[in-house]
Amino acid sequence: MNLIEQKVNAPIGLFDSGIGGVSIWRELVRLLPHESTIYVADSANCPYGFRPTAEIRALSAEIVTFLIAQGCKLIVVACNTASAAALYWLREQFKIPFVGLEPALKPAAKASKTGHIGILATQGTLQGELLHNTIRTHAQTVQVHVRVGSGLVKQVENGQLDTPMTKKLLSEHLEVLLAKKVDQIALGCTHYPLLQPLIDQILAGRAVAIDPAPAVIRQVQRLLNVDNIQALSATPLHQFYSTGTTEQLQRMVNRFSARPIVAQPLQLKG
Ligand code: DGL
Repeated sequence: MNLIEQKVNAPIGLFDSGIGGVSIWRELVRLLPHESTIYVADSANCPYGFRPTAEIRALSAEIVTFLIAQGCKLIVVACNTASAAALYWLREQFKIPFVGLEPALKPAAKASKTGHIGILATQGTLQGELLHNTIRTHAQTVQVHVRVGSGLVKQVENGQLDTPMTKKLLSEHLEVLLAKKVDQIALGCTHYPLLQPLIDQILAGRAVAIDPAPAVIRQVQRLLNVDNIQALSATPLHQFYSTGTTEQLQRMVNRFSARPIVAQPLQLKG
């Protein structure tokens, strides 16, 4: 394999505080089926939502260093909270293209008929500069209502995707937003689209919940095309690592993978 082929067939790295980024991974393999991937779930340190910025940056930098050492050609920060705390900073520290996550406010604002849109996200994402820049740029014409989705990350990490407790928690969060007349809700945490069937059941057509994954993967594709490094014919290899227990990650990814995947433990220096 020559150097150009090596780069084209190099994996795309993804990471999240836990297993939520699998909602991004599943869209990546659907839209870019020849790309290999390496996914890191920092489940030992999950949730990131209440951690200080400096801590999230340090954790993200360790994971990025690992992904670069594995030969990744691009990294998706598949976590809204890590993107809010670290995306701009990571771009300054490392010479690799990054794609980050932010709530899908632009399509939400465009589609809203009531003029009210909601964002369900972690505290870290709602406080971040990234979100405020996006509101300024894309959501000036609507009222934006925010809600911290307390407890939801934990339910997903524990594999409780459709239990009565998860439904109760989700209902509480969504009803608060619905009471503000929102008709579009941006899912601002990558764990939440994994709850989409339950979300749709609760919303029952009263509002639309927007998963940012398709837009994120389109951006990945654009960046790969700029550098001419999109894999177009390779047989992909998908590797999964967790800094905590591998069980839930493996279970979650195998819901969406055509071939069985075994997740490996990963110890970061810390
Ligand atoms: N998936 C992460 C996000 O998108 C979860 C946040 C957390 O760990 O609190 O924000």
